[in-house]
Amino acid sequence: MNVFLIGYMGSGKSTVGKLLAKKLDFKFIDYDDFLEAKEGMTVAELFNVKGEVYFRKQEYIYLQDVINLDATVVAFGGGTPCYGHNMTTMLGAPDSIVIYLKANVQTLTERLKPELLQRPLIQHLKSDDELNEFIRKHLFERNFYYNQANYKVVIDDKSPSEIVSEIIDLLN
Ligand code: S3P
Repeated sequence: MNVFLIGYMGSGKSTVGKLLAKKLDFKFIDYDDFLEAKEGMTVAELFNVKGEVYFRKQEYIYLQDVINLDATVVAFGGGTPCYGHNMTTMLGAPDSIVIYLKANVQTLTERLKPELLQRPLIQHLKSDDELNEFIRKHLFERNFYYNQANYKVVIDDKSPSEIVSEIIDLLN
């Protein structure tokens, strides 16, 4: 079985994914890291040097490499399910479940505030209000995709180990 974690930037996909894989004795793949290794560039470099369209294309191309494995937890990028047919492809992967780590706008704003500069999509934002407004609109658009997940886990005010326990309950 495979577990695919999706959700907005800052929702804890990588942290939760790592811990979940450890608990289940599964392998763990962070899809951003996977793409960085394949492309020999960081995600930020890919955006800045090659552009977002190129990044989205690579995100689509390499999807097949990570969805047909076994006993693997994959933490996808925040945008992965929201482009092309990626979400349908993920939902159709054999023996796999897709889980949306759902955070509210306030939680995401607080978490992303200190990380603005490392994140190409939000690094241009000038104030907390702008960040909050950007996330609110962006999340509204992306929820169409995120809400197609097999399960949703609300993560606000929960520790990674609480979230992992909830996910393990869902799997049983
Ligand atoms: C993106 C999220 C990032 C990374 C890229 C684009 C997005 O991944 O793939 O910066 O479109 O939401 P994380 O959600 O793992 O930060």
